[in-house]
Amino acid sequence: MAAAAKPKKANPVNLRSNLAITLFFIVVFTIPALLLLHTPSNYISTNLCSNSDKPWSGDLRRAQFSWNKLSFHAGAPPPHTLRIAVFSRKWPTSSTPGGMERHAHTLHTALSRRGHDVHIFTSPPAVPLPSPAAASSSPVIHFHEGEPEKWRYNKAWEQYEEENRKNKFDVIHSESVALPFWLARGLENLAVSWHGIALESVQSSIYQDLTRKSGEIMSPAFNQSLQVMIPKVLDEIRFFSHYHHHVAISDSCGEMLRDVYQIPLKRVHVIVNGVDENDFKQNLKLGHDFRAKIGIPPNATLVLGVAGRLVKDKGHPLLYVAFSMLKKKNSGAYLIVAGAGPWMQRYKEMGNQVIVLGSMNPSELRGFYNAIDVFVNPTLRPQGLDLTLMEAMMSGKPVMASRFPSIKGTIVVDDEYGFMFSPNVDSLYEALEEAATEGAERLAERGRACREYASSMFTARKMAMAYERLFLCIKNETFCIYS
Ligand SMILES: *[C@@H]1O[C@H](CO)[C@@H](O)[C@H](O)[C@H]1NC(C)=O
Ligand SMILES: *[C@@H]1O[C@H](CO)[C@@H](O)[C@H](O)[C@H]1NC(C)=O
Ligand SMILES: *[C@@H]1O[C@H](CO)[C@@H](O)[C@H](O)[C@H]1NC(C)=O
Repeated sequence: MAAAAKPKKANPVNLRSNLAITLFFIVVFTIPALLLLHTPSNYISTNLCSNSDKPWSGDLRRAQFSWNKLSFHAGAPPPHTLRIAVFSRKWPTSSTPGGMERHAHTLHTALSRRGHDVHIFTSPPAVPLPSPAAASSSPVIHFHEGEPEKWRYNKAWEQYEEENRKNKFDVIHSESVALPFWLARGLENLAVSWHGIALESVQSSIYQDLTRKSGEIMSPAFNQSLQVMIPKVLDEIRFFSHYHHHVAISDSCGEMLRDVYQIPLKRVHVIVNGVDENDFKQNLKLGHDFRAKIGIPPNATLVLGVAGRLVKDKGHPLLYVAFSMLKKKNSGAYLIVAGAGPWMQRYKEMGNQVIVLGSMNPSELRGFYNAIDVFVNPTLRPQGLDLTLMEAMMSGKPVMASRFPSIKGTIVVDDEYGFMFSPNVDSLYEALEEAATEGAERLAERGRACREYASSMFTARKMAMAYERLFLCIKNETFCIYS
């Protein structure tokens, strides 16, 4: 902001030093990023199995792998009931909530069910809720006053303080910057979950711009976002340290927080988000029926699926071209497109090997996942971690995804789980061809491995138990020791 106040001062010296600073940071950030590309799966396994038949034990705060890898006793009641304050900009009331709200809802509903006293501080709902059922097993929601879905942290903070005076909270949980750092500063019982950090967007911007064709001009908005990107990373590095505990939702984000953001090791914890294990299951009949319903012929040899918003930065320009190439050579290859957006019309014009379904509700999505052979996610912008990858794996399907550190380090940690490509047409096409050559039977075998891995790592229950343990550890150090 200070830079914007004096735009006239762009003399050559400043420009040169800006360039030097930029180059310096490219080097500083690229080295850890490159290291990340190679390390995660290896260090996790060596960390976990330093003594091959002895499970990991020690201080959880020193664990650099994701807590989802450990087993916590979900069957037993918690040793203490915690009083938990949650700051979330929104609380899901619509049928298609965003990823961050979904996370808050899934996690804190589960913690309430385990008997914890959870209070949510959030913005007023878009649609008035039916008067709460006041069930003792659901969180207490404090909507602050004001406009619907417009987050006013100071209003929420006032309500929190009043509630905290009545009965002190053990732990405070902020979903991203819902609670700004100047309020979070000094609160040692606070944990913040990061659903995507600025350093990750540096890499996704590189990927996005490389898909620009020669001669195609860069949009002014994108250009502008590049100009402020490094300052944004620097800003985050400076203010993140004011939050005491940090939850990274991918292994690579944890690594960046420790190594680039320089947050002390013991304050960074990796807990991967989970999806509801009851919502996503393997169901062959459901998949078979879904195929018949949408008109996939029985002699189809490969059925690919893609889901989500059909926009440019989700990689649709790549998939569109790569699949056009594939379908010319493979008359048995089909692509099912679940979702809506600007690219929908183009997919519709691709002929009968592409089936466009539009937006789908959760129960239709279950059919969709079961109907496909491979789930394709060509995203160029994976801030945080896309839940669709986990949903597909939980449904027993291998995945095909861009080779981002977050996806590579946490999701496709074994070649068996699918295919990774560089976000360009040739590389994606190569991966598509590989899947086509392998055929449905081999893909189903990979899918079984995916299902096994996903149900050991990405369940909502796993996530809730890991957070519970972190919150217990924040309240009383005894619980930081895992054995
Ligand atoms: C981005 O914007 C800057 C200044 O606004 C301009 O000098 C530069 O040429 C633009 N870059 C591209 C690739 O359009
Ligand atoms: C699938 O069957 C249809 C009609 O029975 C036929 O026209 C088509 O060529 C077949 N496709 C493949 C890939 O065998
Ligand atoms: C921490 O928990 C342990 C085990 O429940 C208990 O013995 C100890 O007194 C607690 N410490 C504090 C400071 O509450």
